[in-house]
Amino acid sequence: MIAMKMSEELETAFVQQITREYEAAFLYRQLAAELELRDLPGMATWFRRHAEIELGHADRLIKHLTDRRNHPVIGDISLPSIKLETVAEAFQIALDAEREVSEAIRALCRLADAQHDYDSRPVIDWFITEQIGEEATVSEVLGRVTLVDDDGSGLLFLDAELAGDDPDQE
Ligand code: FEO
Repeated sequence: MIAMKMSEELETAFVQQITREYEAAFLYRQLAAELELRDLPGMATWFRRHAEIELGHADRLIKHLTDRRNHPVIGDISLPSIKLETVAEAFQIALDAEREVSEAIRALCRLADAQHDYDSRPVIDWFITEQIGEEATVSEVLGRVTLVDDDGSGLLFLDAELAGDDPDQE
């Protein structure tokens, strides 16, 4: 049996969230390139891994829509122009982006609740939990990068460490 199709309004909100997840993926790919240019390949790898996680988030939302015979459509991807003065700014940009995603997920949750769309709650709850972890992870890395304050040896130490870190398992 197919779960009940969601309303057009809720479908639009899910579609916007799919686009946001792709935007996050491309933002992280851009930040990876910026860090590669600063000879910090470990941090670049960390951002590329995080980009893959974002693609997985988009896939999860797309599957929920297709499972319910709703129609996922990827919207226009818009990215901010990025000019980094410090390495810490890369992680601040990421944290700001994660906070925006968390707020968007909460809005999606409020809309689903208002519509008594209980079928979408498991996937929305998954994202609420995921966002708590994502914000905590990025915030911790930002804190550590801020501590070393563009000191070369500190950055190289963190770069080596982040090369092996899974952004989804901290
Ligand atoms: Fe898919 Fe990092 O939020």
